[in-house]
Amino acid sequence: MPGKMVKIYIMGKQYEVPEGLTIQKALEYAGLRLLRGCGCRGGFCGACGTVYRKEGEYKLRVALACQTVVEDGMHLTQIPFYPAHKSLYDLEKLTPSLDSLVQNYPELMKCLQCNTCRKVCPQDIEVMQYMAAAMRGDIARAADLSFDCIMCGLCASRCPGDTVQYYVGELSRRLYGKYVAPKAKHLERRLEEIKKGKFNKELERYVKMSPAELKKLYDERDIEPEDADEPVESAAASSGEISD
Ligand code: FES
Repeated sequence: MPGKMVKIYIMGKQYEVPEGLTIQKALEYAGLRLLRGCGCRGGFCGACGTVYRKEGEYKLRVALACQTVVEDGMHLTQIPFYPAHKSLYDLEKLTPSLDSLVQNYPELMKCLQCNTCRKVCPQDIEVMQYMAAAMRGDIARAADLSFDCIMCGLCASRCPGDTVQYYVGELSRRLYGKYVAPKAKHLERRLEEIKKGKFNKELERYVKMSPAELKKLYDERDIEPEDADEPVESAAASSGEISD
């Protein structure tokens, strides 16, 4: 028998759920099957954007359902997807510049710098600041400040300028990664090895393995030390046994 129960409202309907549950678990306790609005359950995928009001409060709040615990009197609904303009572009044809951002997201220049996006972000990201950097064409800063974005779209849901902050951040990071960030030598080396087919035999062997054999191999893999500048080439990896 569950302990103390709290009263919540899911899309207007009242339910009693055990206190201490996350919103996501409370939705399931109430009998909902989460076909959308549920992904990683760990605060990383951005699929579980939720808006809610507390009883007697005028303020509209937002949360990630997998991270936020229910409170008595919550009125909630989920926004697993927010309709927003997503530009389709060929990164090869863009330059790391303001032009590229504006060409794909002209509404960027409608940003009022009102900071609503920052207040609504469940990740506490400096959304307004990275939008300001994007408007200056400072791709590196926009990429850096938006790095932790999980693309839940809640920033765009409240934006009075109809801008799509999370896609601007995403494009900035892509431009930064492709054109601005120094190239990682070990990655280039590894890509070259892959192209030359160094791991083909090994991959073919994995494809033929049973799930149990793969699990054993995974459990016994070498883990790269956290502060390593370059990946450690383990004996197994260099012998073609395990690749990272
Ligand atoms: S389910 Fe992935 S962030 Fe909540």
